[in-house]
This record gives sequence, structure tokens and C-alpha cells, in this order.
Amino acid sequence: MTDLPSRSRQLFDVIRDRSSVRAFARDPVPGELIRNAIEAAGWAPSPHGTQPWRFVVLESAAARERLAGAMASTWREQLLLDGQSPELVETRLQRSRERLTRAPFVVVLCLFLGDAQPYPDVERTRAETLMAVQSLGTAAQNFLLALHAQGLDSGWMCGPLFCPDVVRAALDIDSGLEPQAMFPVGRAAAAPKRRPRRTPDQLIAGWQ
Ligand SMILES: Cc1cc2nc3c(=O)[nH]c(=O)nc-3n(C[C@H](O)[C@H](O)[C@H](O)COP(=O)(O)O)c2cc1C
Repeated sequence: MTDLPSRSRQLFDVIRDRSSVRAFARDPVPGELIRNAIEAAGWAPSPHGTQPWRFVVLESAAARERLAGAMASTWREQLLLDGQSPELVETRLQRSRERLTRAPFVVVLCLFLGDAQPYPDVERTRAETLMAVQSLGTAAQNFLLALHAQGLDSGWMCGPLFCPDVVRAALDIDSGLEPQAMFPVGRAAAAPKRRPRRTPDQLIAGWQ
């Protein structure tokens, strides 16, 4: 990468250093740091500036256990349906449960379409929803980078996307919120593995 001013270098370092963490130490984390990361998420771009996402923060062990327990039943059914052996299914469930219960916080990210632009036709309604989902990804990345910049770790878990009703019921959240992802937050128990990346030349599909 070409020489960068120190502010840009710091940003690139945070971007490059972040990686998905799946095992957490039990060290406590100040809630203020979670709040800061949610503020950073709020600065993400969004369609018409609507910020179509909401965060549900689970700090209590009881709430994290409740979520893990509720999701486990659905996930067990789905994995068995996929033909996975009952032993493997139980191992995977146990690992997932540990991720949710060991991390000091779990944050559930929900789509909120209450402020979406209404359209009379299906196509634009679909595009509006898609834009909201795209925007949720940008909010998630701001959130993850802000956590990392504050010395915390996290990792995206897509489970809620497959059982939104179960998550809503377990957390007793508004029916207008659509759970899309969850993020255990804490400090890594061990240095995470880095996944290799494509070079810019491999990523650039055209430059006209
Ligand atoms: C939409 C999305 C869903 C993901 N779901 C999961 C998941 O359910 N479980 C998991 O361990 N990682 C999940 N990940 C994390 C990716 O596996 C990870 O980001 C990727 O392998 C690159 O590694 P890195 O984040 O360490 O750079 C997800 C990432 C995204 C963007």
C-alpha cells in the first residue's frame, strides 16, 4: 500500500487487524464500549438516512442463556434434517452455546423497516428492503471496527436469520424488528486465525 498519513494508517490498521473471534475470555467489558460501537454504527450510510437497524444488547447471563437455549432447538432440528450425525450436532450446538454464554455481551442486530419508503409496486418495495439490508451490513461493519478500535473482539453469527421468530420470542422484542445477526462481544481467548485475502488486482473486475 502507498504511504498514508498517520490517521489513514490507523484506520487501515484497525480494518486489517479485525478478525472474527469465536472463543472469548470471561473478562468483564464496560457497557460504555458497546454503546460507543453502536454510536459508530449509527454513522453508517443508510437509504434516505433512515438507519433501518436496531441493536438489542444482552448483558445478563440469563438473557444470553435464554437466547442460546431457544435457538438450539431450532438449530438441532435443522442440522439433523441436513443429515448430520447426532453426536456432531450436539458438539456444534455446545460450541455455539459457549460462544453466546462465555462472551460478556451478545448484541442482536435487527432490521427495522418501519421508516422505509412506501411504494405501490412490488419491485421498488423489494429494492427498498434490499437497500435496508445492504445498509445493515455497513452498520455491522462500523460496529465491528469500533469494537476492535476499543480493544474488543467479536464475530458475526448468522443464526438469527434462520429463526427470527424464535429470537423475537426469546428476547420479547417488538414484532417490527427482524433479527438478522448476532455478535458475541468480549476479548479473544486466543489470537484468532487470519483468513487470507484476495489482492486488489483479484478484486477489481474492471477499471474502464
Ligand atoms: C453475513 C455474514 C454471516 C456470517 N455468519 C457466520 C456464522 O454464522 N458463524 C461464524 O462463525 N462466522 C460467520 N461469519 C464470519 C465469516 O466466516 C468471516 O467474516 C470470514 O470467514 C472472514 O474472516 P474474518 O472475519 O476473520 O476476516 C459471517 C460473516 C458474514 C458477513
